[in-house]
Amino acid sequence: MIKAEDLVLPPVAALHPYEPGKPIEELEREEGVSQVVKLASNENPLGPSPVALEAVRAALSEVNRYPDGGCWALSRKIAARHRLEAERIFVASGSVEVINLLAFLFLRPGLNAVFSEHAFAIYALATAAAGGESRTVPMRADYRFDLEAIAAAIDGNTRLVFLDNPNNPTGTIYRKQEWENFLARVPDWVIIVADEAYFEFVRDPDYPDSLRYHQDDRMIVTLRTFSKIFGLAGLRVGYAVTRPDIVTLLHKVRQPFNVTSLAQAAALAGLDDEKHVRRTLEVNAAGIHYLEGEFRRLGISFVPTNANFILVDVGDGSKVFQDLLRQGVIVRPMNGYGFPRHVRISVGLEDENRRLISALERVLSKA
Ligand SMILES: Cc1ncc(COP(=O)(O)O)c(C=O)c1O
Repeated sequence: MIKAEDLVLPPVAALHPYEPGKPIEELEREEGVSQVVKLASNENPLGPSPVALEAVRAALSEVNRYPDGGCWALSRKIAARHRLEAERIFVASGSVEVINLLAFLFLRPGLNAVFSEHAFAIYALATAAAGGESRTVPMRADYRFDLEAIAAAIDGNTRLVFLDNPNNPTGTIYRKQEWENFLARVPDWVIIVADEAYFEFVRDPDYPDSLRYHQDDRMIVTLRTFSKIFGLAGLRVGYAVTRPDIVTLLHKVRQPFNVTSLAQAAALAGLDDEKHVRRTLEVNAAGIHYLEGEFRRLGISFVPTNANFILVDVGDGSKVFQDLLRQGVIVRPMNGYGFPRHVRISVGLEDENRRLISALERVLSKA
């Protein structure tokens, strides 16, 4: 029998599928535990915006119809929010869809994408799936991207640079001066993907909002998502802001109806729910304050974060992940990201954070 694997590019056959955080139901089944706390996928612990939920309910009776393929209303609303033309907005089934489409469009064997080691896992997957080469650049000792080294790794065959700011899983950012120096060095054939999935959570005043750097029409793609601050991860909706000619190419290769009608309705309504956004930020800030304080008290080292998760050095990430599972707490082991000593912990509600800390204390005292 012909193996299907032999019919695809070798780097594609060698890929390991993206490993999502363990679902609550699976853990309940496997371990027989209940009231599981999931702090594994950087989701919004408050739940979805109630205003968005109401809009989803209202849109349910129309699901016999295909959605608006071009996301007309949503792209206009996003454009107005950013004071930009709608031609610069591309709405997608999560920002990950844009990453895949960019790789599909701009990479092929012989071409490369440059990004930091320990960056968001999807960049390497999307690059390999398109037959491109992943050029990874070492991270600085302070867990931040080395933008100078990233710029130096670009060559004539580079088409994409992926920068997630803040970075998942370190929660670290690069600052304005680093970004501006980087922009000055990047040649004009390279598309810079500024993946700002955690944009709203950043507290550092020196953070560069990449949307402010689109004026001279260089090829920047800013990615934002409704999965995090708006609490709509399950509906899959995110967007890119970029040059109209790149938007046109993205439309050419997307699925005809890539964003469901429910996702569009939720995102349209969720954008106006400032109260939910504010509460989410308060819960996150309080959670970070509490968790970082507890890690200090317990003598556990962690990477100070600008996002809604914290990278924590627990000595043996896989073991602590397994031990925490048995206590009904799901975090994310980090072997796949090249951090075998660490787990990544998403910030939860007050009670969830407390349960995590007491479970962690129990687990580490037995180690
Ligand atoms: C850096 C980064 N970019 C993008 C995403 C994906 O977002 P979406 O749900 O919009 O596909 C994530 C999700 O965890 C992320 O960490």
